[in-house]
Amino acid sequence: MSTKVLIIGSGGREYALAWKLSQSPQVNQIFVAPGNGGTETIAKNIDIGFTNVEELLKFALDNKIDLTVIGQEAASDAGVVDAFQSAGLAIFGPSKAATRIESSKAYSKELMQSQKIPTANFETFTDPDSAIKYVQNRKFPQVIKASGLAEGKGVVIAESFEQAKHAISEMMVKKVFKDSGKTIVIEDFLPGQEVSIHALSDGTEAVLFPPSQDHKQVFDDDLGPNTGGMGVLAPVPWVTKEHLDFAMDKVVKPALKGLKSDNSPFTGCLYPGLMIDGSDVKVLEFNARFGDPEAETYLRLLDSDLYELLISCTIGNLDPSKIKWLPKTAISIALASGGYPGNYEKGKPISGIEDAESVEDVVIMQAGTKITNGKLITNGGRVLYVTALGNDVTDARSKAYKAISKIHFQGMHYRTDIGARPNGVTG
Ligand code: AMP
Ligand code: GLY
Repeated sequence: MSTKVLIIGSGGREYALAWKLSQSPQVNQIFVAPGNGGTETIAKNIDIGFTNVEELLKFALDNKIDLTVIGQEAASDAGVVDAFQSAGLAIFGPSKAATRIESSKAYSKELMQSQKIPTANFETFTDPDSAIKYVQNRKFPQVIKASGLAEGKGVVIAESFEQAKHAISEMMVKKVFKDSGKTIVIEDFLPGQEVSIHALSDGTEAVLFPPSQDHKQVFDDDLGPNTGGMGVLAPVPWVTKEHLDFAMDKVVKPALKGLKSDNSPFTGCLYPGLMIDGSDVKVLEFNARFGDPEAETYLRLLDSDLYELLISCTIGNLDPSKIKWLPKTAISIALASGGYPGNYEKGKPISGIEDAESVEDVVIMQAGTKITNGKLITNGGRVLYVTALGNDVTDARSKAYKAISKIHFQGMHYRTDIGARPNGVTG
């Protein structure tokens, strides 16, 4: 039998999924829709956008795809999973209704409240005047969030009433995030360090990945504006078994229970972003997908057949004992285009990938790239992720930064302190 897999998305996360799935003896052919310059060399790119439900379904039926894997949340939010399931196709990812845990922060906060999942105190608003009135009497900073999907840009940490008022007006009156800002959530600021938790779920059973840590701000020492993520380390040495037990028992399990009782059982990767301050753990947000570049890091560490794991989730048959991890540390570091996360130019030639991959334990995962006239050029904000495995954090970091020194494109920038945070306690 010839097994075919379709991956939906175009980033480094989808490159990592294709890279890992290509190692499964069970997988014969991989397609990525729409993919990037890197997935074109390790799989076959299909020119269909990730929210084009009809065309994706037609492609999967025509080509007898055995498993479809959602990378991009916009695909599950567009109803790709619902359509594939109705057509009897195996697909890994949540239904449109279950995706609300990410696509509606208002729903997500209600779910946390009803399931007693620890999170920041909050209120939800649909009109700007009541939002402004509420925030007038709060202690700052306050966090103002557009409820809908906003590509990670819909969150403002307001240090003063003036800043809060400005953010409310941008979201609700000027509608800079269109309908995503019709409803907003205002919540208290939480101190601590962010940790990414990932759990695979088949709707009932769940299994946790090792804890990881992204570095969201663009510059060293967490300075500058937020990005999609500049680098991830896993596992995070200071995260304890108690933190992880808490994440499973008080966060993941109650969230899955709540989604099930709302008639939208969750199949896929549930990714709560936690704020940890000493022994205090609170949920910042839920994502309904693999993180990016969390996925790149995790798939370097995974020591099991990814195809088997994902298929078992789609048929409600996940066996937690089947998931094995290498006893190593993995790191992914983003190489970004000049100007990112603001405006940046595309089309810059990329060199040195082969040299970089000759460094022991290094794999370069491609994201914002494309191939034009046989040449690899930049085509996005986060261009490449340099991933490395090591015996510990120091080893993984030194291999990754050695590999980075061999790569070049005009304007390239990256953080030099990925994985260098001391611990999870704030002053
Ligand atoms: P979210 O999309 O809700 O995760 O928010 C994006 C980023 O804003 C998070 O990754 C945090 O860095 C920051 N953030 C969100 N909510 C809070 C909060 N209540 N306290 C502190 N930082 C926050
Ligand atoms: N790395 C952060 C995210 O995927 O949301």
